[in-house]
Amino acid sequence: MKQTLLTLFSLLIMNTLSAQNKTLVAYFSHTGENYGVGYIEKGNTAIVAEEIQKLAGADLFEIQTVRTYSDNHKTCCDEAKEELNKQARPELKQNVKDMSQYDVVYLGWPCWWGTYPMAVATFIELNDNLKGKTIVPFTTHEGSGFGSSLRDLKKACPDATIKQGLSIQGRDAKTSQQTVKDFVERQ
Ligand SMILES: Cc1cc2nc3c(=O)[nH]c(=O)nc-3n(C[C@H](O)[C@H](O)[C@H](O)COP(=O)(O)O)c2cc1C
Repeated sequence: MKQTLLTLFSLLIMNTLSAQNKTLVAYFSHTGENYGVGYIEKGNTAIVAEEIQKLAGADLFEIQTVRTYSDNHKTCCDEAKEELNKQARPELKQNVKDMSQYDVVYLGWPCWWGTYPMAVATFIELNDNLKGKTIVPFTTHEGSGFGSSLRDLKKACPDATIKQGLSIQGRDAKTSQQTVKDFVERQ
C-alpha cells in the first residue's frame, strides 16, 4: 500500500514537472507569390518552424489572421505597410490553447518591412506579452535579417527572457536543416 502510494505520488510529481516544461513553436508565415522563391504553397518560415518542432519535440501553432493577405507580392507589401503604419492588430483565427503549459516559446516570423508582421504583435498581446516565458526568436528574410524586430520584441515582452535568435534567408529555408539543428541543440 505504502509502495503504491509512493509510486502514485512520484507519477504526479513527474506529470506536474513535465507539464511545466513544454515547448511551443508559434509562427506566422505567408504563402503565394514570394519575392525570393517564386510561388510557394508552404511559407519559408513555416518550413523552418516545422523543422524546429520536430527537433525540439514541441507543439506547433500557426498564427493565422482572419483577413487573408494577397497572393500578389506587391499587394501584400502594400497591405502589410498599411498595417505597420497604423500599428494594426489584425484579428487571429484562434489563439493557442492554454499558454500556461509552455515555458519556452520559439517565435517565428518573416521579416515584413524590417520588423515582424502585425499579426505577431496581436499574438504577443493576446498572450500576456509572453510574461515569464523564454522566447527563442527566429525569422526568414530576403536581406534585412531581424531588422528592428528583436528591439520591437524586447519592447513588447519586457518580462520575458529573450534568447539569441536565428535568422535565415528565405530562399535557404529548404536547405537549412543543419543550421536549424545546431540552433535547437544550442538551446
Ligand atoms: C509584405 C512583405 C514585406 C517584406 N519585407 C521585407 C523586408 O523588409 N526585408 C526583407 O529582408 N525581406 C522582406 N520580405 C521578404 C520576406 O521576409 C521573405 O521572403 C520571407 O522568407 C517570407 O517568409 P514566409 O514565406 O514565411 O512568409 C517581405 C515580404 C513581404 C511579403
